[in-house]
This record gives sequence, structure tokens and C-alpha cells, in this order.
Amino acid sequence: MHRRQAEEIARRRTFAIISHPDAGKTTLTEKMLLFGGAIQLAGSIKARHTARHATSDWMAIERERGISVTSSVMNFCFRDTDLNLLDTPGHADFSEDTYRVLTAVDSALMVIDSAKGVEQRTRKLMEVCRLRNIPVITFVNKLDRMGLAPLAVLQDIEDTLQIECVPLTWPIGMGRDFRGVFDRRHGELRLFRPGTERRPDDVQIIGDPADARLDDALGEQATTLRQDLELLDGACAPFDQAHFLRGSQTPVFFGSALNNFGVQEVLDAVVDLAPPPQPRATATRVVRPDEPAFTGFVFKIQANMDPGHRDRIAFVRICSGRFERGMKVRHLREQKDLIVKDATLFLARTRTNVEEAWPGDIIGIHTRGRLNIGDTLTEGEPLQFLGIPSFAPELFRLVVLRNPWRAKQLHLGLQQLAEEGAVQLFRPLHGGRDFILGALGPLQFEVTKARLRDEYDVEIDFQPLSYTAARWVYGTDKARLDKFIADHPDHLVRDLAGDLVYLAGDSWLLERKIEQWSDLEFRSVRDQVALADGPLSAR
Ligand code: G4P
Repeated sequence: MHRRQAEEIARRRTFAIISHPDAGKTTLTEKMLLFGGAIQLAGSIKARHTARHATSDWMAIERERGISVTSSVMNFCFRDTDLNLLDTPGHADFSEDTYRVLTAVDSALMVIDSAKGVEQRTRKLMEVCRLRNIPVITFVNKLDRMGLAPLAVLQDIEDTLQIECVPLTWPIGMGRDFRGVFDRRHGELRLFRPGTERRPDDVQIIGDPADARLDDALGEQATTLRQDLELLDGACAPFDQAHFLRGSQTPVFFGSALNNFGVQEVLDAVVDLAPPPQPRATATRVVRPDEPAFTGFVFKIQANMDPGHRDRIAFVRICSGRFERGMKVRHLREQKDLIVKDATLFLARTRTNVEEAWPGDIIGIHTRGRLNIGDTLTEGEPLQFLGIPSFAPELFRLVVLRNPWRAKQLHLGLQQLAEEGAVQLFRPLHGGRDFILGALGPLQFEVTKARLRDEYDVEIDFQPLSYTAARWVYGTDKARLDKFIADHPDHLVRDLAGDLVYLAGDSWLLERKIEQWSDLEFRSVRDQVALADGPLSAR
């Protein structure tokens, strides 16, 4: 392999932060960017969001609600490592976009609010991490406030998320009594001082917890710390890199993002423990990052912020080779070549050469609809990367067209928005020309409505539907499948690809159906097989 390529791969980490809203993801992101020198002032991420999004009606939804609908890519350098941080919107209104980001990363950073423990959104995002065996680093945040006992947080993570916890730092007190953390790996005491300025004497190398300096620094709390550390040494498994890389063990760090405390330890963990760009599975073979030829796949499409321009940006994760601005790549699904002149390279600012990108990097390609989520780009080899999932929607709406003469535009618009992954589109088996939309968050419907109006000049309303669950239905026994179809005329639809989907009124009914029709297969994630065989098999 080319030496330069090996070096570039080794110094990259591509990861996402997963958390429940309000756990502190934005604050932590901001502090990490400050460390990396990518921004100068805390508060600038929120400010940038507002300025950038002030251009379209669609973004007005975001502005009004003060949330980020679309996820973005941030890059920064830390300890000579190029970090690509992919944002996963964590607000209650989120979409498949959030999940799909996880197909483009090699590891994830999970942020937990120490007062709340594992919350629902984190649980869902972790399900996706588990599907793909993504290694997860955990940061327990807000230790400057009163929260659950640290052991209770670990227990909660282990029980709820079925992952073994190894605390690599351990907190000393909490709330007003929060004094800092003890770094179990390096035998270091890191003292907490509220505020964001760090001083060199905040860190004391202690080595042995029996050291009397611990008493000088912590007073009575030194005794508790010693007991805790002894307990942990006996009760906790040691950190095991292989275990972590398989996604079955997570190193845990404690801190306070707001006070810039514990952030550096987390960044160190990303550099030291998280894996560099990993091999990825395709339908035919595993692609290694150190292969010379360029390959990548589209994991996200974002419409242009400016409604005057119809083009969109396809976010491509580079899997192998070297990307160079202006290079010709093969778009396998369309069997056509693309000259990628106007790629946006989301690269760490400190790098000098921004004309090229390497495995693990994300590039944005401007496209007028030719690139879709899941598309593979290569230098010619016919490959198809696996593992871009669709998730069974939980909310459903019937589309009602206000101006019937725009039916053709409606069809086109819905088709394109569904291909982008903005929303899922279904046609009833026996519903004439009806369109049913499915989503995971209600905001997806609002975005669809606003974009149909702005981009396709189509006005629609929604009629609520009482379904709450969906499953893709597959069966090898054609007679049984036909019988199922005949028995459930009002509950069956087809998705964009023509696959059969069963819509259920509630989860209890759905469970009954799955039991009754046990010879059919009901899937909650499309492409699940591909996922299971996906990047993990390469590890
Ligand atoms: P999110 O992106 O995960 O939704 O969380 P975000 O960072 O926006 O943080 C949610 C709230 O928690 C914010 O307060 C933030 O200041 C606070 N927070 C984050 N980290 C810490 C921490 O370590 N300690 C404490 N005590 N609070 C923390 P807010 O009042 O909702 O917003 P803001 O007005 O401060 O922006």
C-alpha cells in the first residue's frame, strides 16, 4: 500500500455523537471544537446555525423550533489526528437521517445526562449502533449538578443497553461537592474548577491511590474515592480493546461539558481507542480502506438551503483510495460517469491540502437528483455498499392534494423527496391513486409539505391515519403470501421499491399477526440482512 495513504488512514477518526435531547451534545461538540481550534468562541455553533439557515422557508421550521433538522459534518484536528464529527440531530422530532449518519461512522460517542440516565432517544440510536457493532465511548455529563449515583448510571447503561461498562475515569462527589475525576488508567487526579479555563496544576499525577497527596487535595472525599476505586477494581472488568471494537464494551468518562471538564479525556479516548476508518462490506466483497482505487457511498442527501437552486448535496463517505477534486467517478446505479468538479470537502481546517480527501472523510457532491441515498461511487468496479437501512415508520398520513391539476407534480415531488430519504412513500395495494407517507418524527411531514410547496408548487394537506406500526413482509411460500395479501386488503401498501409493507393499528395487533403468520417474515428494518453482514464482518 502507498505509505502516504496508510498514514492518512491511521490519523483519521470518523465518529458521531448520540444522545437524548438536552443531555449536552451541543455543548460537548462546541467544547471539542474549541479544543481543536476549529472555533474561537463558545456559542458560535448555535449562531452559525441561525445564520446559515436563514435562507428558506423550510429552514424557518428549524428556526422557529430552535432545532437542527439536518445533520452536518464538523472537522477538527486534535493531537495531529483529523477528526470527522458527524452530527445526529437529537430533538424529539427527528428522522431516518439521524440513523443513517451512523452508517457512515466508525465509532460513536454517547452522552448521558447523569441525572437522567439512559433516555429513550439514546436507546433507539444505540439499537442502530448494535446492529452494526459500532464501538461506543460513553461520556456521563453534568456532574456539576446532583444526579444519580455513578454506579447507578453504569448499572442503567448495562441493563438498558446491554453493553459492559468500564469506567476509565471516576468522579469525586457531584453537584456542589464535585471535586474532579480520578483517571484510573493513568493514575491521575484531575481537579475540577468551575468555568472553562484549565490550569496546569489542575492535573496531579498520583499513581497510587494510597498517596497522601490525595488527602491534601480532597480531604474526607479521599476516603470515599479510595473505597470506590477498590470496589471498581474488584467489580469491573478491565478495559479490553477487542471487546470495545466489537461494540460489546464501552469505556466510560465522567465530566461537565459546560465547564469544559472531562472533554479532553474524551478526545484522548477518541484518538487512542476509537478505530481508524474500517473496511466496509459490499454485496460482493469487503473493501479495505487501504485499497488504491477510490470508493464511497451516499449516506445523506440535503436539499440546497437556497430555494432558488434546485440542486442538492449528496454526502459521501469515502471508503477506500484517494479522492481528488475534479476526478471522474462511476455512478454504479445509473451506469454513468460523473466528473466531481464542485465537491465540498469537509476537512479539518488545519490541513494544508484541501484538494484531496481520504478514507473516513466526508465529501459533499452537488447533484441535481442523480445521486440517491445508498448509491455507490467507484473508479469503475461494479460494487454496491451495504447497510443503508430504512426503518419501519411509526407515524402515517394520507396526502390530500389541494389543487388536483398538480397531480403529476405531486407524484414527482413525493417520489424525489422519498428517494432523498426525507420521508417514506407508500401506495396502498387497493387505494387507487392515494399516497401514504410514513415517518419517525412528525417534523418530517411538515418538511415534506413545505418543500412540496416551495420546490414543486404543490399544496397539500394531511389526513391522519390510525396506523402506528409497520413491517416489511417477505415470504418464500407464494401461496401463503397471496393468502396474507388477500386477507388484509386495508392494511397493505407497497414502498418505493415495490416491497410489501403491513401497517398495523397497534403493536399488540402486530404481534398477533406476526405469531399467526409465523411462516412469513416481518422486518422492522429494511436491509437488515445487509446490515448484519455489513461492516462488522470485515472487522
Ligand atoms: P443537546 O445538544 O444535547 O440538546 O444539549 P445542550 O448542549 O444544548 O445542553 C442542554 C442544556 O444542558 C443546556 O442548558 C446546557 O447549558 C446544559 N448543559 C450542558 N452541559 C452541562 C453541564 O455539564 N452541566 C450543566 N449544569 N449543564 C449543562 P439550557 O439552559 O437548556 O440552554 P442554554 O441556555 O445554556 O444554551
